[in-house]
Amino acid sequence: MKSLLSLLALAALCQGQIDIFCSPSNLSCLENRTRVDQALLEVPNSVTFPIQNDAFYETPVNFTLAKPGQIVKLEPQTNVTAYDVPPGTSLSRFMYASVDEKNQTVPATGIILWPFTPKTFPYNPLGTAGETKYPLVAWAHGTSGVVRQCAVSNLRNLQYDFRSVFTLANLGYAVVIADYAGLGTNVPFNYLAYKLHANDVVYGVSAAQSVFPELSTDWVSFGHSEGGGVAWAIAERQATSPIPGFLGTIAAAPPPFPIATASTASNSVFQAFLSFTIARLYSLDLASIFNPVPLQALQYVESIGGCNDAGYAAFATFNASDIYSNLSWPSSQPAVDFLADYSVSGRPLGGPMLIVQGSADTVVGTVGAMLGYNATCAVSANAQVSVQYVSVNNQDHNPSLYASQRLWLQWIEDRFNRFPLQEGCSMVNESSARPGQSVQTAERFLVEYTKPWVTIFTSTFLPSYLWKFDLGYAQGTS
Ligand SMILES: *[C@@H]1O[C@H](CO)[C@@H](O)[C@H](O)[C@H]1NC(C)=O
Ligand SMILES: *[C@@H]1O[C@H](CO)[C@@H](O)[C@H](O)[C@H]1NC(C)=O
Ligand SMILES: *[C@@H]1O[C@H](CO)[C@@H](O)[C@H](O)[C@H]1NC(C)=O
Ligand SMILES: *[C@@H]1O[C@H](CO)[C@@H](O)[C@H](O)[C@H]1NC(C)=O
Ligand SMILES: *[C@@H]1O[C@H](CO)[C@@H](O)[C@H](O)[C@H]1NC(C)=O
Ligand SMILES: *[C@@H]1O[C@H](CO)[C@@H](O)[C@H](O)[C@H]1NC(C)=O
Ligand SMILES: *[C@@H]1O[C@H](CO)[C@@H](O)[C@H](O)[C@H]1NC(C)=O
Ligand SMILES: *[C@@H]1O[C@H](CO)[C@@H](O)[C@H](O)[C@H]1NC(C)=O
Ligand SMILES: *[C@@H]1O[C@H](CO)[C@@H](O)[C@H](O)[C@H]1NC(C)=O
Repeated sequence: MKSLLSLLALAALCQGQIDIFCSPSNLSCLENRTRVDQALLEVPNSVTFPIQNDAFYETPVNFTLAKPGQIVKLEPQTNVTAYDVPPGTSLSRFMYASVDEKNQTVPATGIILWPFTPKTFPYNPLGTAGETKYPLVAWAHGTSGVVRQCAVSNLRNLQYDFRSVFTLANLGYAVVIADYAGLGTNVPFNYLAYKLHANDVVYGVSAAQSVFPELSTDWVSFGHSEGGGVAWAIAERQATSPIPGFLGTIAAAPPPFPIATASTASNSVFQAFLSFTIARLYSLDLASIFNPVPLQALQYVESIGGCNDAGYAAFATFNASDIYSNLSWPSSQPAVDFLADYSVSGRPLGGPMLIVQGSADTVVGTVGAMLGYNATCAVSANAQVSVQYVSVNNQDHNPSLYASQRLWLQWIEDRFNRFPLQEGCSMVNESSARPGQSVQTAERFLVEYTKPWVTIFTSTFLPSYLWKFDLGYAQGTS
């Protein structure tokens, strides 16, 4: 039955669920194609839709008493039936207190993907004899959307499936995934505000460790895309407000600079999502930068619990002039202030960092990661830590995670074994020895349903004129 449904979804997709003929001034057409896209591509991957129907995500009334890192709700054995996690794995969900941009407590949720049996480390036994400790990897997820419905703990494949989290669990790591406050919980989500998401991840680690003593004290953080920026922010946070056990961080495909203030607006829905955060934190006036209908279309996406793909459906066929009345809003003072306060790089790190970046990344580009690497290496305090930049030759945003899998798994294992790393910065170009055109670059498999990211980023099913992704993340000077 499930495979029949996914075939139908696939067939519908091939017939073009994105009505490419919507005019940017026709709101009902945009709302319709957003709804159709959400029903086809997003709802089937939700554990609960709408998420408000799951009482787990409700903030308890006594939350105000909680301190950062304190558990407020625990579901030790989450029902795995509704999830598509690998056989042998288990799940636990929890709600805890994190802090927001004003350092005030906010509720956040998280989920732990437990392996069947924990990986052991000959050079660093994590527990004393007879104890079983699960090595903890804190996963920082990439953009999933900007409203409660987009909580990764509510996605059947935990968003990244075999790109990262399933692979880690199958190898014996306990993967602690923070949803980021506002995804899941009923508080505003501040998209791309890396240091806030870093609070959520770090307090999530403490919260999880406080109720599951079988989790190791040692931990590694690892994130991709938006989560790559978060992973970077975690290493910076560990230099100033450390929690115990930090072994290092992996920033895969990170955009250290969340917006390119030197350039004009793009048609990326992610940049539009970001404008909502800048409006909230720095009073950017949305009505003065958007054309009215595209703004209403994006507000509609949020109102129906639409996530990445619904957002993509709202804007996919438009150019930036269709969407904005003011294309230079990225150079507005609110955007410049956001960039100054929320970019990462150029600060001391509290542990080693591995940057993994596809050289053919069409989503975040390589310039930002390289600039951030250079800025981080220029900090004298970082001469004592290891910062390694691995370029994954000719692989795109998501595919680079597969092509580099052996490398990051080895790096994580070596950290748990406490093997020393060479201090200072280094750069590696990882490349297949096979002839270029014989190397796979597309991510072409599905976990039961059609994954929007497969279709969008590797353009497996969409015609090339719909590949309008340009996050504009690469940044000049900051
Ligand atoms: C809604 O979108 C679907 C898919 O593109 C299309 O078949 C249908 O005609 C649209 N309905 C309206 C009322 O526009
Ligand atoms: C808006 O799009 C709908 C299809 O969804 C179409 O029926 C309608 O005629 C369009 N309106 C205008 C003013 O073009
Ligand atoms: C809130 O109440 C629950 C149930 O009584 C309790 O388990 C929890 O510890 C309380 N939380 C705080 C922060 O006081
Ligand atoms: C787990 O969820 C499934 C459906 O999602 C349900 O049929 C089953 O009764 C649930 N099991 C428990 C123990 O609640
Ligand atoms: C944030 O609040 C905590 C108390 O919860 C306090 O210890 C800490 O110093 C505050 N941090 C900042 C940056 O104000
Ligand atoms: C954007 O697309 C519109 C049609 O929707 C077109 O009229 C306009 O010329 C395009 N603008 C640019 C800068 O390409
Ligand atoms: C567009 O935004 C820029 C940056 O904030 C501003 O300087 C400019 O005056 C705005 N243009 C218009 C026509 O409002
Ligand atoms: C980073 O630094 C290297 C070495 O100094 C330089 O060649 C390169 O152009 C820099 N890259 C960027 C994006 O600034
Ligand atoms: C990496 O190596 C490949 C194969 O030798 C080469 O084609 C590519 O240009 C190199 N990339 C970088 C960033 O140096």
